[in-house]
Amino acid sequence: MRLDYLTIFPDYLAPLRLSLPGKAVDSGLLEIHVHDLRSWAHDKHRTVDDTPYGGGAGMVMKPEPWGEAFDALAVEPGDTIIFTTPSGERFDQRLAEDLATRGRLVFACGRYEGIDQRVIDHARSIAEVREISLGDYVLNGGEVAALAVTEAVVRLLPGFMGNAESLVEESHAASTGGLLEYPVYTKPPVWQGHEVPAVLRSGDHGAVARWRHDQARRRTAQRRPDLLAPSSIDDGSTIERAV
Ligand code: ADE
Repeated sequence: MRLDYLTIFPDYLAPLRLSLPGKAVDSGLLEIHVHDLRSWAHDKHRTVDDTPYGGGAGMVMKPEPWGEAFDALAVEPGDTIIFTTPSGERFDQRLAEDLATRGRLVFACGRYEGIDQRVIDHARSIAEVREISLGDYVLNGGEVAALAVTEAVVRLLPGFMGNAESLVEESHAASTGGLLEYPVYTKPPVWQGHEVPAVLRSGDHGAVARWRHDQARRRTAQRRPDLLAPSSIDDGSTIERAV
């Protein structure tokens, strides 16, 4: 997979060279390219923003540097351009799984009051576009969101995780029906007066599996009842998302 990042703060994306993505680059699974959007601004101050048409507070990112950047990066129809924005679709594990199947992701990290809408419209004419929000809160810019999306996607790439089984069991994996993960314990058996549940030390694999499923359900009901609620799907029928 190839990942490109367009940003006015390339240093913000330095963590890509560490940890998970860095490891994937070393092993040849990933190619990462971080680009300074100002390279495609041509005035003396390398301006990338301007005042909004219609008035209002703040500044809007100008379209021209983005258009030139897409051209320079040779973005093509098979690619996916991701605009990280608080007004995008909510990011979740299913979307991460979907994005992990793509060959190339181009992250467009906006700042200020957002990017001129024509950039997004133009992007749709040259590639697949996803507008993605991390959640219902506002960050100062899209870089942190791009990092979060990257980490969630990269760890799903085939051959990346040392232990593929940990992908199956963890919170939000589709294969667990979207339940949160059960609590986990390691040695010692008693710590600060708190005991490891006896069933986990019983050696009874069936009982352990039942206990874990029950704990996952309880935890989900308590913390994220929305994940248990029946949800509507496009054909008008209703399904249980988590079981
Ligand atoms: N940029 C600013 N806020 C954001 C959010 N919540 N998600 C993604 N990108 C953002």
